[in-house]
Amino acid sequence: AEKLTTATTREFKHHLVMFPFMAQGHIIPFLELAKLLAKRTGFAITIANTPLNIRNLKPKIDSTGAGLDIRLAELPFSAASHGLPPQAENTDSLPYHLIIRLMEASEHLEPHFERLLRRICQEDGGRLPLCIISDMFFGWTQDVGHRLGIPRIQFCTCGAYGTSVYYSLWIHMPHNQTHADDFVLPDMPQVTLQRSQLPPIIKMATGSDPWYLFMNRQISRNVRSWGSICNTFEELEHSSLQHMRKSTGRPVWAVGPILPFSLVSSSPSDTIADSDFLLRGLAEEKSSRACLQWLDSQAPSTVLYVSFGSQNSISLSHMKALALGLESSQQPFIWVVRPPLEAPLNSEFSAEFLPEGFEERVKEHKLGLIIRKWAPQLLILSHPSTGGFLSHCGWNSVLESLSQGVPIIGWPMTADQFANSKVLEEEVGVCIEMWRGKEGELEPETVERRVKMVMKEEKGNRLRQRAAEIREAALKAVSEDKNGEMKGSSVCCG
Ligand code: UDX
Repeated sequence: AEKLTTATTREFKHHLVMFPFMAQGHIIPFLELAKLLAKRTGFAITIANTPLNIRNLKPKIDSTGAGLDIRLAELPFSAASHGLPPQAENTDSLPYHLIIRLMEASEHLEPHFERLLRRICQEDGGRLPLCIISDMFFGWTQDVGHRLGIPRIQFCTCGAYGTSVYYSLWIHMPHNQTHADDFVLPDMPQVTLQRSQLPPIIKMATGSDPWYLFMNRQISRNVRSWGSICNTFEELEHSSLQHMRKSTGRPVWAVGPILPFSLVSSSPSDTIADSDFLLRGLAEEKSSRACLQWLDSQAPSTVLYVSFGSQNSISLSHMKALALGLESSQQPFIWVVRPPLEAPLNSEFSAEFLPEGFEERVKEHKLGLIIRKWAPQLLILSHPSTGGFLSHCGWNSVLESLSQGVPIIGWPMTADQFANSKVLEEEVGVCIEMWRGKEGELEPETVERRVKMVMKEEKGNRLRQRAAEIREAALKAVSEDKNGEMKGSSVCCG
């Protein structure tokens, strides 16, 4: 049964209800936004989710949200009844055909979510929650809000450019109107895309498949939301934010960069080093400390950090090309490895996925670190030895990298990542893609060339210089005056 899982104070406060999609890349910024809103407003915040995600959130709130009135609410959920493996309550390691099932299953939470809102209202002496802040993948919460008379705001955990391009592609499917390789987005004529820059699920969408139908159900409600919150900042994405404001005719607030530490503090490592949020459990804590010690032994800006976020994998052949390319570049690296796309669901990483003898050679010649599954990403990015990030361009990774002045080699794989990589390369000037177009096989030589370009050559210095400027702009966006009041462009950060 539904139940509030944290102790609650019962004196009246305004109440906000938040509901992230069940993926690390969404839950992390939602939690951080909840903390900022609770701190800034003194309102009570309830975060709703499925039982497993609530259980995972509980220690994070206990350790990093102390003193804030953040409550957790479980919504009943049975993965098995939606044809999902038991415990598949978030996208961790789920392949795409199951992620869409999880998304569709989320729509069945509607009556439970409505019951939760009614109960909060009852407990608050008949006062409705002030507003619902829910994920862009949960357009259906708009209907619940409408029925109860509660305004709903969509939180786009991606950037403004990524959100606009992603929505435009789903709504217009412009690539299906032409045989040409390049096409223009009808509502963003300044954006020309190539077919190779389409997320595979959009490229394959037929107009009657589950992804297409799901996204259209959500977007058609999202455009009616009371407003949108974007995890970005004006200095980075002013024109895309303006485009969203004009096209939706509703308020669009830039609140970022929202990160799991305060950008305003002088040393991110100090504020996050003890957070179990980043050092997930003792085993990982041990390997995290080893990883930081290893970074201490490297020269400034020489280490390339390689990671593809919380849910993406690359193919076996790409993994081998990447390994050989890294090795021949002779550039120190930290690589967070996951089983390749071809591996069965929930398999452990095995040395066989890498070229023969690779791990041994890396250890013997002290070329770098290979970390299985999860690394303390923010600590790595904030370390002075880190000079580049080979990333899938998930938006959290992008903001974390830029907030530390680290340039990116883009290797987008899905969703908003292609748009993120494109805008960062073409407009912001902090990224260069691994191999644009992804035509043919990836060769180790391509990897070697890109790595050397970003880590050793003049082009890399220019990218690093620009990334340092963006870091300064990010600091300005979330700056506070001496009384702790916000004075930057971002709406609630600090
Ligand atoms: C997803 C989508 O893929 C992405 O396109 C969208 O913009 C956000 O949601 P994800 O793929 O997980 O996100 O990537 P990302 O947005 O980069 O978030 C990953 C988070 O996990 C980051 O906060 C990162 O610091 C953290 N992480 C990931 C680690 O701390 N350690 C790891 O080893 C991997």
